Amino acid sequence: MRFCATTKLGLESTVAIQLKQLGIEPVETLDARVLFDGDFDTMARSLLWLRTAERLLLVVGSFEARSFDELFEQTKALDWKPFLSPKTRIHVNGKSAKSTLFSVSDCQSIVKKAIVESLKASYRVDTIPETGEEVIVEVGILKDAVTLALDCCGAGLSRRGYRTFNVPAPLSETLGAGMVMLSRFFPDTPLIDPMCGSGTIPIEAAMIANNIAPSRNRLFSSEAWKFVPSAAFARAREEAHDAERHDKLCIVGRDIDPHCIDLCKKHAKKAGVMLDWKVADVRDLVPERERGVILCNPPYGERLLDEREVKRLYRQMRGVFDRFPGWEKSIITAMRDFETVYGKKADKRRKLSNGGMTCTVYRYFAERPQKRD
Ligand SMILES: C[S@@+](CC[C@H](N)C(=O)[O-])C[C@H]1O[C@@H](n2cnc3c(N)ncnc32)[C@H](O)[C@@H]1O
Repeated sequence: MRFCATTKLGLESTVAIQLKQLGIEPVETLDARVLFDGDFDTMARSLLWLRTAERLLLVVGSFEARSFDELFEQTKALDWKPFLSPKTRIHVNGKSAKSTLFSVSDCQSIVKKAIVESLKASYRVDTIPETGEEVIVEVGILKDAVTLALDCCGAGLSRRGYRTFNVPAPLSETLGAGMVMLSRFFPDTPLIDPMCGSGTIPIEAAMIANNIAPSRNRLFSSEAWKFVPSAAFARAREEAHDAERHDKLCIVGRDIDPHCIDLCKKHAKKAGVMLDWKVADVRDLVPERERGVILCNPPYGERLLDEREVKRLYRQMRGVFDRFPGWEKSIITAMRDFETVYGKKADKRRKLSNGGMTCTVYRYFAERPQKRD
């Protein structure tokens, strides 16, 4: 089977690395997508383990279409019987970019009609009552190339299940994991998030450090599909359980808001990680170790604080972070002139989308230790 892991623009390489760590060789890495092949075990393992993928899709077919007739006939010609029972409730989602067929709602209803016709012919029935399990079909059209796929997830993969209460501007779990993966963080590296909100970055880092499969505690829509053997998910969950470690970690979360720290404690407990949480102002942060990683997602001036306050906070952060010369710092923000305000050019930048907003991760590398005479 061909699978497609969708991700945020800018995080494709992290998905490819995770697949390789699972022993799965990516076939192709495209904008916001990574393609790979495999069986039901591959499907279950990637659903459980991919930290920076948004969704996992099972590709049913691809073809070119420039008219509704072509879309209908080629969709109908695909073999849907192995995937869909004669009672499946079919829901079609869609998107189209740079294509002749741009009306997504028309494409969705044509694809649905074509699948129903295909199933009626394959099962030799007059109607498809749609009283059975729901399957979500994704139709994606890019430059007239149509891909039809089944959504294996249900809720998106960022919904790990540990973040039950939200703060006003949380980072998605996939983006939090992405920030950790883009930094030089290793399981024994001290890590501080001085503005941790609901705790996403420290919790994702802890799950990475202790080799915890991020989606081990949730269910996926594909588990209810008739053609998927439940043993594949049982095997993947057992593997994830055996791989998990419970090492003591040096990961710290701080926030000025006591309500956030209360939430962090609840979320960490639910995620199965023990971390050090305290109420503190970033301006009071002092290094207790020589080396480590600071990851932070400060207010942007969009949803929290106003622009003037945010600029003042960024200038103060620079003063604080300069006390940590041996630490790498990564700051994610949507503020365009961040480097000017912060007063230092980043060593590396990566553009990422965060809930429809384009953000940049600014990375400042750690200073090398001075050579002793
Ligand atoms: C964008 S939110 C962080 C969201 C977090 N990454 C998450 O996923 O939930 C910014 C956080 O910075 C905190 N904050 C604002 N000013 C602060 C300060 N001076 N010191 C520490 N935390 C601060 C806010 O309370 C808020 O929780």
